[in-house]
Amino acid sequence: MDLRIKSFDEYKEKYRQSVKNPEGFWDEIAKTFSWKEPYDKVLEWDFDGPDVKWFLNGKLNITENALDRHLEKRGNKLALIWEPNDPKERPIRYTYRELYEKVCEFANALKAQGIEKGDVVCIYMPMIPELTIAVLACARIGAVHSVVFAGFSAHAVADRVNDAKAKMVITADGLNRGAKQIPLKRVVDEAIENCNCVESVIVYDCLGWSPNMKEGRDHWWHDVVQTMAKECPAEPMDAEDILFILYTSGSTGKPKGVVHTCGGYMVYSAYSFQNVFQYEESDIYWCTADIGWITGHTYIIYGPLVSGATTMMFEGVPTYPDPGRFWQVIDKHGVNQFYTAPTAIRALMAHGEDHVLSYSLDSLKVLGSVGEPINEEAWRWYHIHVGKERCPVVDSWWQTETGGIMISGLGDISPMRPSHAGYPLPGIQPVLLDQEGKEITENGVEGYLCVKFPWPSMLRTTYRDHERCRVTYFSHYKGHYFTGDGAKRDENGMYRIIGRVDDVINVSGHRFGTAEIEEAINSNAAVVESAVVGYPHALKGQGIYAYVVFEKMPEDLETARAEIIETVVEEIGRIAKPEKIQFVSGLPKTRSGKIMRRILRKIAEGEPDKLGDTSTLLDPDVVDEIVNGAQ
Ligand code: WTA
Repeated sequence: MDLRIKSFDEYKEKYRQSVKNPEGFWDEIAKTFSWKEPYDKVLEWDFDGPDVKWFLNGKLNITENALDRHLEKRGNKLALIWEPNDPKERPIRYTYRELYEKVCEFANALKAQGIEKGDVVCIYMPMIPELTIAVLACARIGAVHSVVFAGFSAHAVADRVNDAKAKMVITADGLNRGAKQIPLKRVVDEAIENCNCVESVIVYDCLGWSPNMKEGRDHWWHDVVQTMAKECPAEPMDAEDILFILYTSGSTGKPKGVVHTCGGYMVYSAYSFQNVFQYEESDIYWCTADIGWITGHTYIIYGPLVSGATTMMFEGVPTYPDPGRFWQVIDKHGVNQFYTAPTAIRALMAHGEDHVLSYSLDSLKVLGSVGEPINEEAWRWYHIHVGKERCPVVDSWWQTETGGIMISGLGDISPMRPSHAGYPLPGIQPVLLDQEGKEITENGVEGYLCVKFPWPSMLRTTYRDHERCRVTYFSHYKGHYFTGDGAKRDENGMYRIIGRVDDVINVSGHRFGTAEIEEAINSNAAVVESAVVGYPHALKGQGIYAYVVFEKMPEDLETARAEIIETVVEEIGRIAKPEKIQFVSGLPKTRSGKIMRRILRKIAEGEPDKLGDTSTLLDPDVVDEIVNGAQ
């Protein structure tokens, strides 16, 4: 079960094998997992459909791999450590045996509530152990989980619940976040007023509040688990049955449900986890992401647990009660691998070194970064002050759609270069394409980042809309999966991710489509139209800049701004709040009516002298007005 590559030479050899004979390569790895029935073929694929299947006709249950198979040897090993928001509160620790029982118990409760294989369950919860338990309990019985980040608004929850036709929502009364407490059940109540598909709601009592409980529909977690057996047979799943849906934003329309399936995702989550973090048996591993995002799915829950690791989850935020919290938690639990986001590093950097220098951080072996390009300054701070120049920094590039880490250093075995993700993992075949879609094969180049061969944890479809999956990812460049990112490859073949080349903004590692935010802004009755672009932001990586056309130029700009923000918070959530809002009398458009975002981007970036050719605009004067009024 140790899937680790142990030297760079071995990596090179494995990589070569994985390209020469991908099926043989993955077969060797997949065989080490526990299958209820073996697969009879490793791979069938076609990127035009797209139609990709891994481990055909294999039957498995991912929770048997994440729990049951560890019981004999690791029954008493810690599976999950939970660190609460409030440092004065006690952490919770579950061994593999205890987690197994909790998951089975809740799986039985789901069944008792009428949830069956294939039903979709929406999970909208705090970062508490019950979130992990709920996710695994769904997987245990073959229900499809759709976790929605607990910062999304009622509208956003309703969209996702309706799109997936979720039969149940699992939530809590509210959550702790630093000094704040935020209601969740109230949001769910508002959301599902407009969702006919939801039959029941399970509520975990996290804060001891007394939310409104609707008779016949809402049930307390502690009630439904009472009398439930602590054993629950694992549902046999086909390798290509859906494991989960996770909604993510793209350049057009509403967020789409990215679909991951059981077999390939299981194999790749564990393989990439062990290799990138070079996890060793007695290590304690901590990923600070929220389980509402893909990073939490793959690298808090599935990758570590399928590998038999000790994984930690954290309820709180990096700056509460002070900006030393991460480092205090690392010392307290003896964390060996630490995986976080550049935005968190930059936020802590801004508070100065003292907070980090007062902790020893001796236990650390590997540091990871994910979610957006890590700028060199943040990389160095992380490497010097956190890693004491002793720990490698693995800059891991991947996406919700890829299911697992694609390009990254592997612990201390690969060469590293600041701000460079590095080399692809074995089995991953990235390419750079030029404007015409031709592969650029030499080094020292830049292009559109695509992948030309399937990997086990790639998305299979977008839920109930396969055509959207095809158009978004497989139609730009024939025979390639298109990532939406631009990248450079240096003289040594190391990749450096530059950022999105489509209309996706990455704010503190959270993805938003410009169209999605514009749609939210436009729902305000006073707004005629709007255009949203990203601009460089010192802490968040990118900030949201909105150009808004009002029916009548507002007299009180501050109030108008507050109203726009309120609309976005209502439609999407606080995380999508525009940083800057400029009221304009019109938008720069081509004669065919297309908004020239390139121009708006340059103005937002503070480079109005680099607008390029504006002669094709319908109304060039509007550009001067926008430049003069820019924030
Ligand atoms: C960006 C998060 C540079 C990228 C796992 C990608 C990165 C998007 C990195 C996916 C990295 C993620 N360096 N950029 N190490 N990791 N990104 O779906 O633009 O939330 O397309 O998945 O984040 O975001 P998502």
